[in-house]
Amino acid sequence: MSKPIWEYAVPLLNVENLTSGYGRNNIIRGISLAAEEGSITAIIGPNGAGKTTLVQTIAGVVDARGGSVRLGGEPLDGMSARERARRGLGYTPQLRNVFGALSVEDNLEVVTRAMRLPHDRVDEVFELFPILAERRKQRSGTLSGGQRQQLAIASSLLMRPRLLILDEPTTGLAPQIVDSLIEQICVIERSGTGVLWIIEEHPSQILPLCERVFLMESGQIHHEANGPQLLADPGFAEMFLGARIPQA
Ligand SMILES: Nc1ncnc2c1ncn2[C@@H]1O[C@H](COP(=O)(O)OP(=O)(O)OP(=O)(O)O)[C@@H](O)[C@H]1O
Ligand SMILES: [Mg+2]
Repeated sequence: MSKPIWEYAVPLLNVENLTSGYGRNNIIRGISLAAEEGSITAIIGPNGAGKTTLVQTIAGVVDARGGSVRLGGEPLDGMSARERARRGLGYTPQLRNVFGALSVEDNLEVVTRAMRLPHDRVDEVFELFPILAERRKQRSGTLSGGQRQQLAIASSLLMRPRLLILDEPTTGLAPQIVDSLIEQICVIERSGTGVLWIIEEHPSQILPLCERVFLMESGQIHHEANGPQLLADPGFAEMFLGARIPQA
């Protein structure tokens, strides 16, 4: 019997057998995953599992030692982080993701100038994050954690990425801020952008939004599931998140 048509479609992001590490240690070992446009794909796993290393390798910040990364079918292997960004791969790091000494506006200008983007891209991201427009002259080192995270995401969005990788964007934020940040990420997704989201905190709010979830442990993918199904799995909380998911 022939395969259904969607099985022939090229995924937005296709990672195959990816391996990378530091010094003598391979941290991620033979990882394969895919992410689609206009949908949220999550990576979840304990501290030290290699989640950040994985997305840094996909983004070209850490060199791959084997395997391949394709965006829209095009191989990105061997390309710098900047070249990958130009091809539509947006990456918002977990830490040190804004220039603290610069104002909000200057943070965004640095990217538009470096990447030779039209200036109206700044207005575009101000529309999505009105608080940044209000605080455009404020030094970004004095922003709240949530505002800083919004600025970091806004900086990635200036390139109009096809895929946006977010490394724990809600970690450490106050509950109301988390709700609005999640809503803003959903707006990004609904605009057609693929989102690859490393989840650490707030899984009970975020997992229901995730089409696909990859569970990572010790540098490998151990399980793939759909977000809502995963949340409903009674063994999941205990296995991967300790007691962090409130039980119904
Ligand atoms: N620059 C580095 N040099 C050497 N080892 C590193 C480096 N960055 C990370 N590691 C090691 O790689 C392993 C995986 O770290 P990584 O930050 O990728 O995990 P993580 O799953 O993102 O953890 P967390 O949930 O705490 O963010 C850890 O053992 C860490 O100590
Ligand atoms: Mg990490």
